[in-house]
Amino acid sequence: MKKLFIIANWKSNKTSLETKDWFQGISNFQFPISNKEIILCPAFTLLSNLKSYIVNPPAGEAGHKSSLKLGAQDISPFESGAYTGEVSAKQIKEFADYVIVGHSERRQHFHETEEIIIKKLEMAQKYQIKPIFCISDISQIHNSSFIVPKSNIIIAYEPLSAIGSGQADTPENASNIASQIKKIVGEIPVLYGGSVTSENVASFTKTPYIDGVLVGNASLDAQEFLTIIAHA
Ligand code: PGA
Repeated sequence: MKKLFIIANWKSNKTSLETKDWFQGISNFQFPISNKEIILCPAFTLLSNLKSYIVNPPAGEAGHKSSLKLGAQDISPFESGAYTGEVSAKQIKEFADYVIVGHSERRQHFHETEEIIIKKLEMAQKYQIKPIFCISDISQIHNSSFIVPKSNIIIAYEPLSAIGSGQADTPENASNIASQIKKIVGEIPVLYGGSVTSENVASFTKTPYIDGVLVGNASLDAQEFLTIIAHA
């Protein structure tokens, strides 16, 4: 059975109180699930709280949650220092094992260029934080694919038209792109992202080349996220 990555990208959502509710919502769920790696990517403000929940679950909520992993949604292209507003790799490393790099929303709203994305991948590599490198087009792979060794990167294919639109790509097309990515980069995990729900997740994860999903909107609801994990 292939290993699947199920990643929650909460984007700019959830206060600490809402996070507590979400965590209570998953409290009866039995982790770990042998072939599934579950990674939560909350806002920076919530990483510390989530780490505490995972390491020391509240009384009555079993320690099975310790199998959850954390990821950041972004990383500074610079080392720690005089870069107001940035969160450096060294700081992230305290809380997270993964980091999303190159998400299309960052490319679009924050004008992230290939050059910046490459620096972010380099920082992640230097501090041994595994990047979840997002691309919306296969052409975005070329410049960046050699920065991080194959054993230490995950690629997420997220077509622009599918993100937040409710119009997921077809599993056939997504699997075909995943296979092309593997031909270029080699045998690394390739995920699909864009309007994944509990209803369509299996159609992606059962294809031969897709190794999991990056879930935005549908991960905000604890029950829906648990159902995604169960159906994947
Ligand atoms: P979505 O977001 O599931 O809300 O489409 C996915 C993503 O942007 O990673």
